[in-house]
Amino acid sequence: MSLNPYDDDFTQRLSAPDGHRNIIGGLWDEMGALQRDYLVDHGLRPGDRLLDIGCGSLRAGVMLVPYLAPAHYYGIDYLSALIEEGYEREIRRLGLDSRLPRENLAEERAFAVPFEGVTFDVALAQSVFTHLPINHLRLCLARLRPRMREGGRFFCTFFMAPDLLQTGETMRHPPRSEVETFCWRDPFHVWRRDILFAMEGLGWELEDIEAWGHPRGQEMARFRAV
Ligand SMILES: C[S@@+](CC[C@H](N)C(=O)[O-])C[C@H]1O[C@@H](n2cnc3c(N)ncnc32)[C@H](O)[C@@H]1O
Repeated sequence: MSLNPYDDDFTQRLSAPDGHRNIIGGLWDEMGALQRDYLVDHGLRPGDRLLDIGCGSLRAGVMLVPYLAPAHYYGIDYLSALIEEGYEREIRRLGLDSRLPRENLAEERAFAVPFEGVTFDVALAQSVFTHLPINHLRLCLARLRPRMREGGRFFCTFFMAPDLLQTGETMRHPPRSEVETFCWRDPFHVWRRDILFAMEGLGWELEDIEAWGHPRGQEMARFRAV
């Protein structure tokens, strides 16, 4: 049995008009701008090198590429078809291909970080670990840390469960759409103690976990490379 919902066959959905936008959750302009604005408010600067983990069809990319210096945006994703669609149908259409070399985007399925020789200042994983069991976070933190500069930050979203929620109970996340989450299947919620466990001994510090205006109630965790 696959533990990744992105193992489904997306061929037909991708070929639909806007399929590449809908597969990653729609809300194209809103979620792209929200990610850029949050990162800029939290210190992202044009000279930074940013790795977008689970970049999908480049919803954040279309907003971040114009902000960052040319070739400073990098992305990895489980599905090369999504990257391809995003590059062809969004990046090229906007004339942003001169600022985003195609080699800055790569398919990766176990959080290895390609782009040899590049050290990142900022990393982002928006709505990625909400679809995956918590051990994937540990793998990602372990593989990402050696590729980050000291003091660099990793911004990562989760559906957070309150301490009082019992294991096995589901929960609902407003505000706009009601998402029901589970501790055993997609979409996942996690407890703060799960995150602390997943990062233990890997060279990260957890600065904060906060609401950041996500329309479906995901919260943003900020990790700092130490
Ligand atoms: C809901 S989409 C979010 C896409 C993007 N972060 C955004 O906000 O527009 C989740 C993305 O995570 C990717 N993904 C799932 N498992 C992954 C893994 N193990 N490594 C890299 N990407 C993964 C999926 O292919 C998909 O593009």
